Amino acid sequence: MLLTSPLFLLSLPLAAFALPFQPRAAESDKIAIGFYTGWHSDDVPLTSVSWDKYNTMIYAFATTTPDVQTLSLNGSDGSVLPEFVKQAHAHGVSAHISVGGWSGSKYFSSHFQSAENRTAFANTVLDFLNEYNLDGVDFDWEYPGVQGVGCNVVNANDTANFLAFLQEFRAAVSGKKITISATTPLLPFRDANGQPLTDVSEFAKVLDFISIMNYDVNGPWSPRLGPNAPLQDSCADTAYQFGSAATAVKAWRAAGFPLKKTVLGVPSYGHSYYVTPSDAFANNTKDLAPYPPFSKSKTPLGDGWDNTTSVDACGVTQPSGGTWNLRGLVAGGWLSADGKPAQGIYYSYDNCSRTPYLYNENSQVMISYDNAESYAAKGRFIEELGLRGFSLWESGGDYNDILLSAIKGTFN
Ligand SMILES: *[C@@H]1O[C@H](CO)[C@@H](O)[C@H](O)[C@H]1NC(C)=O
Ligand SMILES: *[C@@H]1O[C@H](CO)[C@@H](O)[C@H](O)[C@H]1NC(C)=O
Ligand SMILES: *[C@@H]1O[C@H](CO)[C@@H](O)[C@H](O)[C@H]1NC(C)=O
Ligand SMILES: *[C@@H]1O[C@H](CO)[C@@H](O)[C@H](O)[C@H]1NC(C)=O
Ligand SMILES: *[C@@H]1O[C@H](CO)[C@@H](O)[C@H](O)[C@H]1NC(C)=O
Ligand SMILES: *[C@@H]1O[C@H](CO)[C@@H](O)[C@H](O)[C@H]1NC(C)=O
Repeated sequence: MLLTSPLFLLSLPLAAFALPFQPRAAESDKIAIGFYTGWHSDDVPLTSVSWDKYNTMIYAFATTTPDVQTLSLNGSDGSVLPEFVKQAHAHGVSAHISVGGWSGSKYFSSHFQSAENRTAFANTVLDFLNEYNLDGVDFDWEYPGVQGVGCNVVNANDTANFLAFLQEFRAAVSGKKITISATTPLLPFRDANGQPLTDVSEFAKVLDFISIMNYDVNGPWSPRLGPNAPLQDSCADTAYQFGSAATAVKAWRAAGFPLKKTVLGVPSYGHSYYVTPSDAFANNTKDLAPYPPFSKSKTPLGDGWDNTTSVDACGVTQPSGGTWNLRGLVAGGWLSADGKPAQGIYYSYDNCSRTPYLYNENSQVMISYDNAESYAAKGRFIEELGLRGFSLWESGGDYNDILLSAIKGTFN
């Protein structure tokens, strides 16, 4: 059972209904998380969110600033956040804030570096949760001990300092119903030598769950075109084994993170690449070749949420990212409204990564993405391993709940 049944609600003491907000999900239930990106709120208004299919929604992002006492909603249309929380609660959905993100992690390292700053930042986050009446906070530090966007403060002790902060923050919310989670890379956080931690059990004590970002495993930076969000990679050629849901969950588990506190991050988007027809098709057939070479000099423009150029959080001008969300693939004519490949588009499903590919021979663009079939495979994996649930980045990238319904349909 994914969401709480009416019977569970009936068994709640009546007093619960007098509280201003009572989350719908019991502690042991699977969690169905959607990330709501404030900067897409014009295209994806709160009224279009499928509130009844999630039990947690996370607003992205509150970003770190040079001032340990300030979080910023600039760039995330902060004016939407109060109504987001109101709508979530009206639907019995927990409302969380995600702090950090790719562009917003610049100052975690300095905020966590001294005891004074850790206390100050804990108060900053607590005040933010109180101000917006939030039920939880997700720390999305990309990444402790490893450079992310390019201009983050990075320190060898980041991971140890992060743990010290989380321990202090957990103690500070003691007695309050606040959920604390972390969005993580495929491998456990790095130790002072840059190696993945072999023991993350102390993190497991202070986090309610981690959400593993099993996406961007391959992208325009990869040597060959490969799956954005592979479920498995041990069946791929060894040269292309860059990680997968299976290896990530295994690594965190081996380091002591419980499966029942592990959430699989799943993407609504994929990456596009220029691939010549001779590379795209295998052996003079019209079957798509696995791991084809692609043009390194130019990345195609993605969907309506991509730009030909943009300025990143470090002030560096970046070319198009080439990302396509499912809703964009439908709007852009790659898929029909039922999510099936449109006429004239070549399709293949890689049975190792359990992810699909599309190819347009005219534009010579190939896309690795996720569809109902790959989401169902990910859902079965969550169910079989007994993971806590999934987190969909981003809820607004889905189309008619094709992805959301597919992954939820696999849960008992
Ligand atoms: C947000 O942007 C406004 C307008 O550019 C600016 O005045 C303000 O300082 C910014 N806030 C933060 C916390 O960065
Ligand atoms: C503590 O935070 C402030 C910014 O609020 C920063 O200037 C200072 O360098 C930080 N301390 C350490 C040890 O990083
Ligand atoms: C890491 O922490 C240790 C122990 O507190 C300290 O001696 C060392 O200087 C720190 N390293 C850095 C790079 O801050
Ligand atoms: C292409 O042909 C070779 C040799 O017959 C075979 O090993 C390979 O699997 C084929 N590739 C595809 C994608 O079918
Ligand atoms: C793309 O450009 C628009 C308008 O210039 C801007 O509002 C938006 O934030 C940009 N998107 C990205 C992903 O940079
Ligand atoms: C894909 O793999 C699954 C699981 O191993 C298997 O049941 C299925 O037959 C495979 N499909 C193809 C087309 O090879």
